[in-house]
Amino acid sequence: MVRSRTLLIVSFILAAAGGASAADAPRGANSCTGCHAARPGIEDALPSLKGRKASEVTEAMLAFQQDRKPATVMNRIAKGFSDAEIAAIADWFAEQQP
Ligand code: HEC
Repeated sequence: MVRSRTLLIVSFILAAAGGASAADAPRGANSCTGCHAARPGIEDALPSLKGRKASEVTEAMLAFQQDRKPATVMNRIAKGFSDAEIAAIADWFAEQQP
C-alpha cells in the first residue's frame, strides 16, 4: 500500500517535471536545464533562463562562443551550437513562464 502510493507520487513528480512545454523544446534546450534550473523555486547559483529575453540569451551565447564573456563551462557548451540552434533555444526559453 505504502509502496504504490510512493510510486504514484514519483510518477506525478515526473509528469509535472516533464510539462507540456518541454515537449516542444528545440534540440539541445533540455541540456541547458540540467544546470539552469528548469523550475522556479529551485535554489541555485545559476540564473534560470526561463522568461529571459531571447536577445539576451542569444547575445550571451554568442559572446561565450567568441570568448568575449568570461566563462568556466559556457564557452565550451556554446561552441557546440549553430546560430540557428541558439536562436531556437533562446526563443523557446523566452516563451517559458519563469
Ligand atoms: C554544465 C552546466 C551548464 C549547462 C549544461 C549550461 N550552462 Fe549556461 N551557464 C553555466 C555556468 C556555470 C554559467 C556561468 C558562466 C560560466 O562560468 O561558464 C552559465 C551562464 C549562462 C548564461 C549567462 C547568464 C547570465 O545571466 O549571465 C547563459 C545565457 C547561459 N548560460 C545559457 C545556456 C544555454 C542556452 C544552455 C544550453 C544550450 C546552457 N547555458 C547550458 C552552466 C551551464
